[in-house]
Order: sequence, then structure tokens, then C-alpha cells
Amino acid sequence: MTQPTVFLSRTIPSIGLEILKGTCRLDIWPGDFPPSRTELLDRVAGRDALLCLLSDSIDAQVMDVSGPRLKVISNYAVGYDNIDVYAATKRGILVTNTPGVLTETTADLAFALLLAAARRILEGASVVRDGKWTSWGPELLLGRDVYGATLGIIGMGRIGEAMTRRARGFDMDVIYLDHGVDHEELQGAARCASLDELLSRADFVSLHVPLTAETRHMIDENALRRMKPSAVLVNTARGAIVDTAALYRALRSGEIAYAALDVTDPEPLPLHHELLSLSNCIVVPHMGSGTIATRGKMAEMAAQNIISALRGEVPLHLVNPEVLPHRR
Ligand code: DGY
Repeated sequence: MTQPTVFLSRTIPSIGLEILKGTCRLDIWPGDFPPSRTELLDRVAGRDALLCLLSDSIDAQVMDVSGPRLKVISNYAVGYDNIDVYAATKRGILVTNTPGVLTETTADLAFALLLAAARRILEGASVVRDGKWTSWGPELLLGRDVYGATLGIIGMGRIGEAMTRRARGFDMDVIYLDHGVDHEELQGAARCASLDELLSRADFVSLHVPLTAETRHMIDENALRRMKPSAVLVNTARGAIVDTAALYRALRSGEIAYAALDVTDPEPLPLHHELLSLSNCIVVPHMGSGTIATRGKMAEMAAQNIISALRGEVPLHLVNPEVLPHRR
């Protein structure tokens, strides 16, 4: 029997490759850059499975070019806004993701960004490196207290809850918005609020919602205007949840104090992007889940999802269960 073939749009940690190699033939896109659109269309043709990254746009055309053998699209990420799930379901293709394993790691980075913005850590490091640190100063690089401040969490899923636990360790007052859902299990740790209250009360606003039609540009000019002038915005979710042009204006005019971004729109930001000219904006390269252990677990999970799907089983992390009655 011929082995099924999997196209991987980038190499992944070896633990995932080993799992796949047991039963599949692998075609791995080489190098550090993703395949171009043409290259992607060319390489997916005739594959049984596709392992892709959040930076690959997987739409109906990719699925059709792949041909009728394609049974599963395994995203190496928990977020799957890069995949047209509706088109996949219509064609009987399973879509899977990697939830859970990256929760704490991503919350660690979100909290690190919050602290870095509050205490102006990047600016401080630059002052020292640039030889501008001449003496201790009573008013040198004054920041904001995190301890005792109010954290507004937009999206109380796994990562939102992990942020709440970290914030409690800093004696923060936590308010959240989660589709208007009041999470009883968080009683005493966090309080449900309206978007209006959250934006106007929070000293730190941290985004933890998936990117959907509803959340795209949720933080727009209007939302930014409702935040405190001393507020810090942290985004480790998806760049397009924030209107980038409006954020630039708000940071520049002092409508809000600081932004700390792991994700941007566009991504990556071009080197000369206006956001990078601001001293009150930290941008890091979408590395929320970027620890050795977590990326390994994601690789294991993404590979297992493919193996289960190719065996005709139901993968543990199936995004579109409605596909099952007519799966390929
Ligand atoms: C995800 O998984 O969606 C993150 O953005 C990257 O790990």
C-alpha cells in the first residue's frame, strides 16, 4: 500500500516529524520563509494532508488545487483564522488545531509585555546600550504600577483565565468581557463588565479573543478613545483585532499611553512602519507560544491530528465536527 503524503509548509520540531514519518511520506518546504502563493498551490497538489502555519492562507483555491485526496488540514496554531473552515467543511476536509498546550506560555508572554510596557523596560535597556545613562535620576523613565492596577481582559477563554491567575499574583483587580458571559467559576477572581466599562476603567487592556468577523477592528478609533490616557494595550491574539492606523494615532496623540504587541496587522510589520517609530510601542515577532517545550507539544499535536484523520478516526482537536458525516 502506498504511504499517504503530507505537505508541511515549514519544518516543525522533530518530535512531530518523527510521528508523521512512521506512516507518511513528507514533503517539507525548506527555509525560513513561507512558500509564496504559487509555490503553495504547486506543492499541495495531490497531497493527503497539509500541515500549515498561521501565516499560510488556506482558502477554497488551495483546497481545490490539492485535489480529492486531501483529507485534513492541520494548523500548527490554536487560532485558525487563516483557514476557510466553511470551504473545508463543504469539501469534506477535516480542519484541526493545537489548543491547550500553548495557554500558559502565551499568557507568560502577554504578562511579560504588560510588565515591559508598564515599567518601560525596552526604553531603559536602550538608554543603557546607547550610552545615555549618565546618573541615577529621580524622574528617569518613570513607569506605571502593575501591582494593584485594573486589568481588563477581552476574551475569557483558556488564555484569558491564565492571565487572570497571573494578575491575581500582582493583586490586580480583574474585569473581563466574554460575549457577555458571566463565568461563575471566576467569582472573587474577576468580574464581568461591559466593553464600555472595561475600556474606561482598565489600566491595562489585554486581548484574548480569536479573530472573527465580529472581532476584526474591535479596538478601533472609538474604542481607543474610550480608554484612559494612561492605559496600556496588550495584544497577543491577532493583529487585525486592532485597527493599526487608529492605534498609531492614539499612541502618537497620547490618547492611550502604550501598546505592547506580539501580533500586528500587517504581519510582519515592514521595517519602516510608523508604529516602529514610536517610543511608546513595543512590537515583538508573534512569539507568544515560542518556548522549546510548547512548540514541541504543538508539533506533536499537529502531527497526531493528521495521523488520526488519515486513519479515519476523529482527531482530538477537530475544529469542524460538522464535517464528520460527509468526510472524505
Ligand atoms: C496560535 O497558536 O494561534 C498562536 O498565535 C501561535 O502559536
